[in-house]
Amino acid sequence: MKIALSTGGGDAPGLNAVIRAAVLSAVNRGWEVVGIKKGYAGLLGDDEVIPLTAESVRGIAHLGGTILRTTNRGNPFHYPVYLPDGSCEERDRSDEVIANAKALGIDALISIGGDGSLGIAQRLCEKGMKIVCVPKTIDNDVSGTVTTFGFDTAVSTALDAIDKLHTTAESHDRVIVLEVMGRHAGFIALHSGVAGTADVILIPEIPYDIEKVCDKIRARDKSGRHFSIVVIAEGAFPIGESPSIHGAHKVGEAERLGHVAERLAEAIEGRTRKECRSLVLGHLQRGGQPTSYDRLLAVRFGGAAVRAIAEKKWGHMAALQSPHIVFIPIKQVLGETKRVDPSHDLVLTARATGISFGD
Ligand code: F6P
Repeated sequence: MKIALSTGGGDAPGLNAVIRAAVLSAVNRGWEVVGIKKGYAGLLGDDEVIPLTAESVRGIAHLGGTILRTTNRGNPFHYPVYLPDGSCEERDRSDEVIANAKALGIDALISIGGDGSLGIAQRLCEKGMKIVCVPKTIDNDVSGTVTTFGFDTAVSTALDAIDKLHTTAESHDRVIVLEVMGRHAGFIALHSGVAGTADVILIPEIPYDIEKVCDKIRARDKSGRHFSIVVIAEGAFPIGESPSIHGAHKVGEAERLGHVAERLAEAIEGRTRKECRSLVLGHLQRGGQPTSYDRLLAVRFGGAAVRAIAEKKWGHMAALQSPHIVFIPIKQVLGETKRVDPSHDLVLTARATGISFGD
């Protein structure tokens, strides 16, 4: 048996722990393992395919990033190809991926990635490749699984930022707006905001009214609390508007969201006359050591993926359905982005403890 591993999409803390667990589980079965570098680029001549042994995964479980590297512009069905005139166009190179994997004697693939990678895996499976998936994203927006590894680490990083912003905001009587990641899901903002006792949390699932946001800040001011912390998800938007897309995204790349914190801080300052500052936490949320929770989930997913190959569960994805890791068909979760349920107990409790969602 010869299996391959690949990591695709944005990195997330815990990827190396998945790789280590999968490689050791496979090697200990007597299987051969290779790593396809940079998504599928290693199979398309744009990077390499490397042997993965017990030696190559030594000492990596606690490290952020991925030893296989990754890309969010590597969809083989829409692969960016650079032309001699410097322009770039998308080509379908999926047949080459399949042929090159076959030529290398790869029997099965473990694809570790988010919704984009799951979609690619499903299409490659339909063309005959044998793939099992491990879901990954700091955004926690993959359905079918209670959570994904990387999310807990991202929330911890955001929480640390909120704790630090509190002391400076209070010292200066300022409003500080913190923008966190999450794409079209507000999980990072909700979880870090509630844990960090933010005063306002704005998420894409609950469009906000700027006046309501300012009402909360004014009410705090009146009650003697002259500072406020606002946590806004990059995909959040005012009622009647749509998410803020910024930057010219490149061929093969998903749209970029964000740049909402500064605009919000200006709007709050204009209305309340309070001194405001903003901060975009950005890619800090994707870095650093995975928390113990993420590391354990990653290890469980990695080990389970190898068992899934042994059981020929092609086209399935590992999922945490507490307390068990199960395998569910990828088809079941595709196109169903998991989002915050506004009637979830965390939202209800946040409201009950005085946090405003700006609605
Ligand atoms: O999906 C993970 C994520 O970090 C999102 O939260 C964010 O919108 C996006 O990736 C950023 O991607 P990039 O690495 O291309 O800036």
